[in-house]
Amino acid sequence: MPYPELKAILTDVGTEELAHLEMVATIVHQLTRNLTPEQIKGSGFSPYYVNHTTGIYPCNANGLPFTAAALQVTGDPITDVHEDLAAEQKARTTYDNILRVTDDPDVRDAIKFLREREVVHYQRFGEGLRIITDQLDDKNFYAFNPAFDSPRTKKAQSPAPLVSAETSSK
Ligand SMILES: [Fe+2]
Repeated sequence: MPYPELKAILTDVGTEELAHLEMVATIVHQLTRNLTPEQIKGSGFSPYYVNHTTGIYPCNANGLPFTAAALQVTGDPITDVHEDLAAEQKARTTYDNILRVTDDPDVRDAIKFLREREVVHYQRFGEGLRIITDQLDDKNFYAFNPAFDSPRTKKAQSPAPLVSAETSSK
């Protein structure tokens, strides 16, 4: 990652996301720790309970567990920041949907806070994308990968090759 300001944004947001995971896990723990067998049967919680009792297991609403496959890293900062932007909007949509189906005021307050933070993260990733593109040849952002190919900045002002001379001669 050739941009220190973008590194700082990624570190800040990533650190905050880990704290969000802790908040969501705590909400799930608080909602499930004292359930009776009757409440488990009547709430739709039974499939989760059968496999995990009331332990915290990171999965989506369909029961699909979190895996590294969810991390869509390409190694191209422009592509990856777009993925981050999309992830923030997907998180906001998930929180919007939770708010539509939840009436517990304590849960709603926490989810509203998390939703607001996703909007802020989206804005910060937008700033990050601008940090990248401001330092590239603005006639062709996509001519090369700034994290991998030889950098071509605005100062160079010449078209960047899609494949470097070194790579193409091999
Ligand atoms: Fe986020």
